[in-house]
Amino acid sequence: MDMRALVTGASAGLGAEFARQLAADGFSLVLVARDEARLRSLADELAAARGTEVEVLAADLLEHDDLERVAARLADDARPIDVLVNNAGFAVAEPFHASAIEDERRMHELLSWVPLRLAHAALPGMRARHRGGILNVASLAGRLPSGTYSAAKAQLLMLSRALRAQYRRDGIVVTALLPGFVATEFHERMGVDATTVPEIGWADASAVVRDGLRALRTRRKIVVADWRYRLAAPIAVLVPDRIIAGVGLGSRLDD
Ligand SMILES: NC(=O)c1ccc[n+]([C@@H]2O[C@H](COP(=O)([O-])OP(=O)(O)OC[C@H]3O[C@@H](n4cnc5c(N)ncnc54)[C@H](OP(=O)(O)O)[C@@H]3O)[C@@H](O)[C@H]2O)c1
Repeated sequence: MDMRALVTGASAGLGAEFARQLAADGFSLVLVARDEARLRSLADELAAARGTEVEVLAADLLEHDDLERVAARLADDARPIDVLVNNAGFAVAEPFHASAIEDERRMHELLSWVPLRLAHAALPGMRARHRGGILNVASLAGRLPSGTYSAAKAQLLMLSRALRAQYRRDGIVVTALLPGFVATEFHERMGVDATTVPEIGWADASAVVRDGLRALRTRRKIVVADWRYRLAAPIAVLVPDRIIAGVGLGSRLDD
C-alpha cells in the first residue's frame, strides 16, 4: 500500500533523518521547513536513491498563512497523509529573566501550538480512514524543570498522551519521542557552547529516529530515545528541581 508521511523541520537534523528512514521504509514524503533549497536537495537525493515521491512544502510554521497551507495539505483527502511527524523546533538560549519575550512566544508556538494545529488538521481524515500515526518529537527535557523549553515540551508530551488516549480506538497511534542531547544543528542554532556536554552524552540522530519510528510502528505511547538516556531517565527525574534548573548548557558563543 502507498504510504505517505509529512515531516516538519525536514531540512536538517532529526527531520532530515526522519525523511531518509521513512523513504527507506517505502513512504512517499511531504517535506516542510523554511529552507526550500535544502528541502529540494534532500528531495532530489531521495528521488535519485530510491525513486521516492517527494513534495516540497516550504513554509515558516510561525507564519499564519504558511501554517494554514501545511494544515490544508494534511487535510487533503485526495492525497492522504498516513503519518505526521511534528518535529520542527528550536530553543531560546537565554535564561528566562534575560530572554526576549518575542523569542519565548515563538518557541512556545513552534513547539506546542504548531503540533496541535497540525494534529487537528490531520486527525479527521485519519479517523475516517481508521488509520494514521502522529509522532511528536518532544524531549526528555519535557519531564524535567529545565527552563521554558521544558515547559513547552511538557505541553507537547501531554497533548500527545491526551490525543493518544482519545483516538486509539479510531485506529490512530500517537507517540511521543523523548530524545536527550542529539548531535544536530540545534545547539549551534541556539548559539550556545555545547562542548560542556561530554562526548558520551551525545546521541546519534539516526539511532534516535530509528527508536521513534519503531515506537510508532509498535504503537507505544512514549519512548525515551537512545539506550544511555533510557538508563539515565529514571534517575534524572528523581534529581531535585533546583539542581536540574542549575544544569545549563555553556554560555552563548557570542558572550
Ligand atoms: N538536538 C537535540 O539535542 C534535541 C533534543 C531533544 C529534542 N529535540 C527536538 O528535536 C526536534 C528537531 O530538532 P533538531 O535537533 O533536529 O534541530 P535542528 O537540526 O536545528 O533542526 C530544526 C529543524 O526545524 C526547522 N524549523 C525551525 N524553525 C522553523 C519554522 N519556523 N518553520 C518551519 N521549520 C522550522 C528547521 O528548518 P528551517 O531552518 O529550514 O526552517 C530544521 O529543519 C526539535 O523539536 C527539538 O526541540 C532536539
